[in-house]
Amino acid sequence: MSAAINENSAMHIESGVSLRPYNSFGLPAVAHTLVRIASDADVRRVVDHPTLGRAPKFVLGGGSNIILTRDMPQVVLKVEVPGLRLVEQRDDAWIVEAGAGESWHGLVMWSLAQGFPGLENLALIPGTVGASPVQNIGAYGVELQDRFDSLDAVDLRTGLTVTLGRERCAFGYRDSVFKQSLAGLVVITRVRFRLPRPWQPVLGYLELERKLAELRSADPTLQPTAQQVADWVIDIRRAKLPDPALIGNAGSFFKNPVVTPEQCRDIIGRDPEIVHYPMPDGTVKLAAGWMIDACGWKGKTVGEAGVYEKQALVLVNRGDAIGSEVMTLARAIQESVYGRFGIRLETEPVVV
Ligand code: EPU
Repeated sequence: MSAAINENSAMHIESGVSLRPYNSFGLPAVAHTLVRIASDADVRRVVDHPTLGRAPKFVLGGGSNIILTRDMPQVVLKVEVPGLRLVEQRDDAWIVEAGAGESWHGLVMWSLAQGFPGLENLALIPGTVGASPVQNIGAYGVELQDRFDSLDAVDLRTGLTVTLGRERCAFGYRDSVFKQSLAGLVVITRVRFRLPRPWQPVLGYLELERKLAELRSADPTLQPTAQQVADWVIDIRRAKLPDPALIGNAGSFFKNPVVTPEQCRDIIGRDPEIVHYPMPDGTVKLAAGWMIDACGWKGKTVGEAGVYEKQALVLVNRGDAIGSEVMTLARAIQESVYGRFGIRLETEPVVV
């Protein structure tokens, strides 16, 4: 690795940087050029730079939702914008702001400790704050869009900071405008959250209902605190999702497919056990993990890539996996699920 300081812009440009420590799957890849971004001004320096300005860019957050299959010729912008603060305390909500480089789980724990509950169902999700709107992270009955206020992003064509509200972000299931028309065109630098007051727990998810029932077996009127809900979510996640610090992974590798009620009836006719959830719009979400499990993939290994023993939706690095091995395994899984259920699974992380 070599580093050079560009005197004019005081920008620190690194070359030949290993991205292995910067992606949670632990896949090997090298960034030809990497620039760390700690502020909007840092993005503007890149935009104004005589050569980097026009070069294609790749925005890297916590690296917990990417699969690197090759070295990166693009300029990698590693977002490290810091900051956690309460912007406003209104009668109906706390508005909290976090720098895009902050750890997501760090934000959840900080907001609970400060007395601003509302993010507890999203505890322990790996990655950074800046990545959270990109894929509209979600878990245990809450999605980022339910707690989103607005965000600031720097336009990589103009260098100008823009503020985007919820409508402009076009949130969908693990999807947003940042994965679609704005992909690679902006750098999210700050995100603001709207945490409703008074706080109300979201406990509709089966595993949380079970925890509540346990708590209430002694005292039926007991109300859980936000910290308790966070602790339950942390317990549930630890029990079935691998810790990326110990076993490389990118969380759910596939999205849960959404089908029409007719398609679902057809599949239930053949596989009555299939786990499925009716959605408010009449469609039905199928549990991809269940389907992969039913095809016999749980615990399997291909080369150095594998299917996690406790949750078939998660692919893992058995040690020295490379991106192409992971994608070979992913395609084999997609083929067998298609063969048995007629459903094409979509990958959830961004494949680079
Ligand atoms: N199942 C199996 N076998 C498996 C895995 C799952 O039978 O190997 C069954 C489970 O028993 C359950 C159903 O499939 O009945 C669904 O599994 P689970 O409740 O674990 O949730 P999921 O659909 O696998 C989704 C999100 C997770 C999120 C959880 C909790 C997606 C792609 N994944 O997983 O998000 O934490 O719900 O809300 O929507 C992520 O995006 O990285 C992620 C971890």
